Amino acid sequence: MFKPSRRTLLRLAAGAMLMPALARAAEVGLARIAASRGLAFGTMIEPRSATGDGAAGQLTAENSGLVTDAQFHWAATTPSPGAETLVNADRMLAWAEHQHLSVRGHALLWHLQTPDWWSRGDAGAPARQALTTHVDKLVRRYAGRISCWDVVNEVVRAGDRADGLRDSPLVRLAGADYVDLAFHTAHAADPLARLACNDYGMEVGSRTGLAKRAAFLKLISRLKAKGVPLTTVGIQSHLDVGLPDFDETGFRAFLREVAGHGVDIVLSELDVTDRTAPMDITLRDQMVADTYRRYLDVALDEPKVSAVVCWGLSDRYSWISDLSLPEHRRTDGAPPRPCLFDQAFQAKPACAAVAAALAAAPVRIGSPI
Ligand code: XIL
Repeated sequence: MFKPSRRTLLRLAAGAMLMPALARAAEVGLARIAASRGLAFGTMIEPRSATGDGAAGQLTAENSGLVTDAQFHWAATTPSPGAETLVNADRMLAWAEHQHLSVRGHALLWHLQTPDWWSRGDAGAPARQALTTHVDKLVRRYAGRISCWDVVNEVVRAGDRADGLRDSPLVRLAGADYVDLAFHTAHAADPLARLACNDYGMEVGSRTGLAKRAAFLKLISRLKAKGVPLTTVGIQSHLDVGLPDFDETGFRAFLREVAGHGVDIVLSELDVTDRTAPMDITLRDQMVADTYRRYLDVALDEPKVSAVVCWGLSDRYSWISDLSLPEHRRTDGAPPRPCLFDQAFQAKPACAAVAAALAAAPVRIGSPI
């Protein structure tokens, strides 16, 4: 069980210190606080949390300048070759546009969302061709409406292959240069869209974490050297409460090195699992808030970080609240509290902490999103 630090206890005692930030967040919304520093702020949306629930939609609209529409996964949009079902994607996108939000599209290629028919070789065309058809179709269909695509998601895995790529049907069927191919195809389909490579686990300074960072940097460096149209790097930022294994210095240096490749950086899926925090809600919420604050203080110091996107704004619709995923379940059975707003959409200390971190971020000028 994770023990609250002295700092957390002190912060709890002085909880009132964060009240002005909370009041400000409620009054003006997180996106406007972010915008005052040249940053974009937003959240992932899906049908339940946007169009399916008025109060949740309102919370999103009030606090976001951009959203990640997570309705573009290949297996979900294309259940059989050539048969796209884009009803949810169209609906989410129309909703976002109605709210004047810019949209990141998530995700064109992800090993967990590769259709079975494609992996089985039933595409009716060579695998590489079927992959480019998918990327081209989606990007072309939404050209001008998606500001940035997650072209590839979670494609590195240290130890799998010498080139650092994850061993998956994607690389096995489409070839070692499938990432390059996907980027070139997306760029041809919408030359103005920003194109991202998105991955997780970068904040962790453990041996595995360091190896993953190295593999990721190697990929970025190779893509840039070959003229692949990569503009953006997504650092997912699914954090564990208390940030175990967070090596602040190493992470700062890593972000610098990523930025050195001429890309902008999006903290693309921010949330905090409270699985190991004590049951007491006051204490737990403060620990989660401290985790957000500590991480953002470091990450937002990097001038190339241009946007912060939460993976859901409220505990009600967080994937961490989905108890069918055993890795998120608390041993005491208490409902998780990973987000900025609770199940009833009330702001929690995490909201004040994020508002304060955004307000304290160095001003950036000319951020791309
Ligand atoms: C999550 C979704 O939010 C859930 O609805 C789904 O059941 C599992 O995936 N990394 C990613 C996201 O890139 O697509 C994942 O989203 C969370 C981890």
